[in-house]
Amino acid sequence: MSAVPETALSERTEPLLDLRDVTVTYRTSEGPLPAVRGVNLTVAPGQVVGLAGESGCGKSTLVSTVLRLQPSGAKVEGEVLVLGQDVQTVGWGALRALRWAEASIVFQGALHSLNPVQRIGAQIAEPITVHEPDLGDAAVQRRVEELLEQVGLPGARKRAYPHQLSGGQRQRVMIAMALACRPQLIVADEPTTALDVMVQAQILDLLRDLVRDLGVGLLIISHDLSVLADVCDRVLVMYAGRVVESGTAAQAFTDPLHPYTAALSGAFPRIGDPAARYAPAGLAGDPPDPRELPPGCSFAPRCPRAVDRCTEAEPPLLEVAPGRPVACIRVGEP
Ligand SMILES: Nc1ncnc2c1ncn2[C@@H]1O[C@H](COP(=O)(O)OP(=O)(O)O)[C@@H](O)[C@H]1O
Ligand SMILES: [Mg+2]
Repeated sequence: MSAVPETALSERTEPLLDLRDVTVTYRTSEGPLPAVRGVNLTVAPGQVVGLAGESGCGKSTLVSTVLRLQPSGAKVEGEVLVLGQDVQTVGWGALRALRWAEASIVFQGALHSLNPVQRIGAQIAEPITVHEPDLGDAAVQRRVEELLEQVGLPGARKRAYPHQLSGGQRQRVMIAMALACRPQLIVADEPTTALDVMVQAQILDLLRDLVRDLGVGLLIISHDLSVLADVCDRVLVMYAGRVVESGTAAQAFTDPLHPYTAALSGAFPRIGDPAARYAPAGLAGDPPDPRELPPGCSFAPRCPRAVDRCTEAEPPLLEVAPGRPVACIRVGEP
């Protein structure tokens, strides 16, 4: 695949993805469920941004808004700008053009996203023929082989069915599909969660290499902060639908300022890692039900540093140091 020209990259100043005060509320039989509450996030060309947080904190819900894939009952507020266009309000024609060609998503669990009775080559070819109907069959086949090689599989593997591939190979196919229409933004929701540790590392290396070689932007989601620490430029940590901290990957992992980030980084300790000193003795309890959030800070009931004041009001996300927004009133206190 041809590289993106240098000039095209340096001339682009606007972010590829710009989420502004995004809120998502599901309608449920037990009342409204605020899954995402006022999230701001940007991804620039060539940048890898990570989104971390326990299961249920709203990561996949947020991701679904990027290509307007949220369920019809979900109410989305705020702006979801992909290459400057608000995908939540553009017409269907513009939205179709955006999907695959400008931005694409790699989902968790490649086995369930691939069609079991269709050869993988045909599945990779599908978005190409939809978006570039004038491309001849030979050119499409060439592109399919190139894409497979780009993700580290032989081009001839295009004739394989999904069940003939390992989990890691299937996830590579999913990444090839995401690259098929040469998007500028890729969103990967838990792309390595179902894989064993060795394969996980290979897939993360692949994603990082693609970002470097193609100059695309990548938003990568994981419940495992240590996965993100190795690949991301910036990391945002979510809790109960809100961003509670963001910073460089190294800051979030080795110098967490929010007690929740500290707990997350301590939840996956490495021997000799300075983050281990922040680790509380495990993080007890579960995240709250979004329909019944506790008063004040949502994390207070589980927080080892909580005091009475923490339950009075939801702490604002404030920049406590350059590039370090944190939503905790106790930052800096002993
Ligand atoms: N389609 C849906 N309808 C109602 N509630 C949902 C739906 N999808 C997710 N939720 C709820 O929204 C919250 C966030 O879920 P999700 O975005 O999947 O979190 P994560 O990806 O971080 O695990 C959870 O409380 C979940 O139960
Ligand atoms: Mg999820």
